[in-house]
Amino acid sequence: MTYSVSGLSVVGVIGAGIMGAGIAQVLAASGFQTVLYDTRPEALAKAQADIHARLDRLAEKGQMGAQDAAHAKSRLRIASDLADLAPAGLVIEAIVENLEVKQALFRQLEEVVPETAVLASNTSSLSIAAIGRACRHRQRICGMHFFNPVPLMKLVEVIAGPATRPEVMQLATDLVGRMGKVAVVAKDGPGFLVNLGGRAFYTEALHIEAEGVASPEQIDRIMTAGCGFRMGPFALMDLTGIDVNFPVTGFIHQGHQYDPRLKTAPRHERMFEAGLYGRKVGRGFYDYSEGAAKPAA
Ligand code: NAI
Repeated sequence: MTYSVSGLSVVGVIGAGIMGAGIAQVLAASGFQTVLYDTRPEALAKAQADIHARLDRLAEKGQMGAQDAAHAKSRLRIASDLADLAPAGLVIEAIVENLEVKQALFRQLEEVVPETAVLASNTSSLSIAAIGRACRHRQRICGMHFFNPVPLMKLVEVIAGPATRPEVMQLATDLVGRMGKVAVVAKDGPGFLVNLGGRAFYTEALHIEAEGVASPEQIDRIMTAGCGFRMGPFALMDLTGIDVNFPVTGFIHQGHQYDPRLKTAPRHERMFEAGLYGRKVGRGFYDYSEGAAKPAA
C-alpha cells in the first residue's frame, strides 16, 4: 500500500459540530470528495447549511470563485450511516472529547473502512496511544489537531501514536499542506503542544477573576487592546465551548500529574455543570441572547 495524497480522493469526517463542519468545508474546497457523518441528523443539516452559507459568502466577497464554491458544495456529502465512509482513504474524527466514546467509534470504524485507510483524531487532549489501543490496525492511527475556526486557522498539529507508520504521518502532513495549512509534528503528550503551552492563558485568567482582581470583560480587553491578542481568554473559551474547554483542561491537568500550574478555577466547573457552554448555547462568560456579546449577569 502506498500512502499518497494524490491517491486520496474520498475523505471522511465524523462529527458535524464546530470542528467537523470546518474541516469538511476546507476539505471540499481543497478538491476532496468529502463525506460528513454524524449520529444526529439535525447536526448534519445545520453543518451543511452553514458550510453552504460560508462558501457563498466567500464567493460574494470575491475570496473564492463562484464556480469553485459551487464545486466545493457538490463535493460535500452528508451521511447518516457510518457505512457511507467505506470509500474513504482517510477519516478525521471530531466527535465529543471522551476517550471511551472515541474508542468505541474507532472500533466500529475499523469494521467499515479498508485496512489501508488512515484514521485520524482531532482530539484536543486525549492520547493517540489510548485511542489506538481500541484498534486492530494501530499503524494507521494518528492525530490531526485543527484549530477553531478551521477555515481561518493555519496550524494543524500532527501526532503519531506508538505504532503509527511514518508513511501515515507523511500522508497526514501532505493532506494538511493540500488544505492550505501548516503542519507541525507534536508529541503524543497531554494537550500536545498548543493546548499545553496555551493552558496558562485560560487558567491564569480564571484565577485572576476568582481572586476578584478583574472581571472577564476587563481581562479580555487587556489581552486584546494591551497585549495584541485577537481574542481574550474568556471570549475564546466561549467560542471553543466550555463543554470542550473544561474537560480538556482537566485531562491536561491529570495527564501532567496534577501540576498546580494547570489547575482550573471552580467557576469553570460550575459553568460546565450548568450547561453554560458559551456561544453554542447563547450564554457562557458572556450573554449572546441578543446577538452581540454582553457581560453575563
Ligand atoms: P461539537 O459538540 O461542536 O460537535 C461534536 C459532534 O459530534 C456533534 O455534532 C455530535 O452529534 C457528534 N457526535 C458525538 N458522538 C458521536 C458519535 N459517536 N458518532 C458520530 N457523531 C458523534 O464539538 P467540537 O467543538 O466540534 O469538538 C469535536 C472534537 O474536536 C473534540 O474532540 C474536541 O476536543 C476537538 N477540538 C475542538 C476545538 C474547539 O475549539 N471546539 C478545537 C480543536 C479540537
